[in-house]
Parts: sequence; structure tokens; C-alpha cells
Amino acid sequence: MRKSIERYSQKIAMNILLFGKTGQVGSGLADHLQGLGRVVALDRGDVDLSDLIQLERVVINHRPDVIVNAAAYTAVDQAESDPATAELVNAKAPEVMARSAKKVGALLVHYSTDYVFSGSAEQPYTEANAVDPINVYGRTKLQGERAIAEQTDDYLIFRTSWVYSHRGRNFFNTMLRLAKERDELKVVSDQHGTPTYANLIAAATALILSRVGTDRPGDYSGIYHMTCTGMTSWYAFAKAIIERAGNTAVRIIPIPSNEYPTPAKRPKYSTLDTSKLERCFGIQLPAWRVGLDQCLTDANLAG
Ligand SMILES: NC(=O)c1ccc[n+]([C@@H]2O[C@H](COP(=O)([O-])OP(=O)(O)OC[C@H]3O[C@@H](n4cnc5c(N)ncnc54)[C@H](OP(=O)(O)O)[C@@H]3O)[C@@H](O)[C@H]2O)c1
Repeated sequence: MRKSIERYSQKIAMNILLFGKTGQVGSGLADHLQGLGRVVALDRGDVDLSDLIQLERVVINHRPDVIVNAAAYTAVDQAESDPATAELVNAKAPEVMARSAKKVGALLVHYSTDYVFSGSAEQPYTEANAVDPINVYGRTKLQGERAIAEQTDDYLIFRTSWVYSHRGRNFFNTMLRLAKERDELKVVSDQHGTPTYANLIAAATALILSRVGTDRPGDYSGIYHMTCTGMTSWYAFAKAIIERAGNTAVRIIPIPSNEYPTPAKRPKYSTLDTSKLERCFGIQLPAWRVGLDQCLTDANLAG
């Protein structure tokens, strides 16, 4: 670990290889990482993560100081009927990234999920709590976390939750679209968690890298919870999105999960305790409503 800290402190301009630049977090990272050095941002067309041989070749050829992996198989329901692809992208590809990172002496930054937990808790999950995923997506993301830790001791895994952005297909954009199309919206009210604006994750990652890259003492490798603070339900989140965007005409109705069956089971409760992130890096993301306001502002939708 000392070697990697010396490496960063001698070299402020990092050579960063980013995977998943078209995703919610990845597109934010493509902007936010720019200030740290040279960023090579790749998409599926550059390297398909299910091609493990090509993936290893790309890492070895680029010889980055830091790999940031924002790519993942995130289609939670689809994963139930396509577990092999989900495992390839969420577990095998991160394993190859970690092995290749070790070969070239790079730090690997990776993202995981609140869905590694079962949702039976009644208070925020810490990094020390037992994991017990209840769907294929969560199981494959957990496999990815474990594979990384087995391959390298120079990694940061940020578990985040309920990620949304004004870019791409996600809950935020779906609610805004449906609110325009319908008079009434039914939204699940018995699943609780913390919505986290993708750009905040990207900004926090860049800030952490800038700290790790200069004067971070000690062993920082490990898993950290990185979400906004507070807790809500999908119903209350939908209501906040739609109302703050200025639409007061649509009726939003809370329903229990059993009235909206999905192929994948979701945890009833998946709020994460983020105090380790604050303790180790001095960073706390804002309350989820503040993140929502920022997203609405970035989307030019603030009411
Ligand atoms: N979304 C959430 O609610 C959520 C919650 C907790 C944790 N996370 C984690 O946070 C991280 C970022 O998530 P996100 O929401 O930003 O994801 P996202 O918007 O769904 O983007 C996923 C990215 O992965 C890429 N990708 C998928 N399969 C690929 C493949 N075979 N080869 C190359 N690229 C591939 C996608 O490329 P294409 O654009 O070509 O498809 C896209 O750029 C992920 O690790 C995710 O598991 C997300």
C-alpha cells in the first residue's frame, strides 16, 4: 500500500482509464475526472466487458494509474432471466480489471449496490453488516466485490443506491414522462432507500481520487457506502420529482409492492450508513432532496 501512496504523491497528473462513459455515473465521471489528469473514457463500442480477453488487453496496453469502472449490467429485472450475462459483466469483468490493475500497478475504483443486502434491517446498513442479496443483480454485484478483493489490495468500492440522473433511462425521467402522459400514477410506497444523483457520485469520486492522489495516509483500500443522506420511498421520491418539476395536476397514489409485481425481488429497506466515507475521506453527500434539486437545476427543470 505504501508503494501506491508514494506513486500518487509523486504524480499529481493521473493517467485514468474510465469504463462505462455512457452511463449515469460514467457520463458524470467523464466530466469530473478531467481535472485530475489524462482521462481515456471508453464505451461498449471500444470494449465490450463480456469480452474478457479484450478487456485485459485494453488495461495492459493503456497502463493506467487508476481504472474507474462505472460500467455494469444494471437491468435488475432482466438479470433474473439472463444471469450469465449479468455475472459476466458484474463479476467476471471486475475480476479481470482487478487482476490487470495489479499487473500494471493501478488503483481500481468500482461501484456496487445497496442490493447486496436483503432489506430485513431496520437501521442503516454499515460496511460491516452481513450481505445477503435477494436477486440476481445483487448476487452478481456481490460476486464482483469479492472477486476484486481477492485479486488486488489496491481498490476502492463505492456502494451506492437508487441512482438517477436527468440523462438516460431511469426512475427520474420515467416519472417525469408518465406525469405528462397520465392523470394518475401508482408508485410503490413500501420499499425504502436513498435516491442518489449520479453527478454527486462522480464529483465525490473525483474528490476522493484527488485526496488519495496527494496526501492520503495509511491503507484506504476497501468498501465504502456512498449515497445521499436521508431515506424515502419510491412513492415519496416520485412525488418530490414531479412536484418540484412544477407538475401539480397528476395524482400520485401509494401502492404496496404486491400490487406492482416485478421479476426481481427488491429489498424493503436498503438505506446505507455513510459515516465511514466521511470518517476516511471527509466527504458527505447532501440530503437526497438537495441532490434532487441539483438534478432538476442541471436539467433546467427546477420549479
Ligand atoms: N442505477 C442504480 O440505481 C444503481 C444503484 C446502486 C448501484 N449502482 C451501481 O452504480 C454503477 C453505475 O450505475 P449507473 O446507474 O450509472 O449505470 P447505467 O446508467 O445503467 O450505465 C451502465 C453502463 O454500463 C455499460 N455497460 C453495460 N454492459 C456493458 C458491456 N457488456 N460492455 C461495456 N459496457 C457495458 C453501459 O453501456 P451502454 O450505454 O452501451 O449500455 C453503460 O455505460 C454500477 O456499478 C451500478 O451497479 C447503480
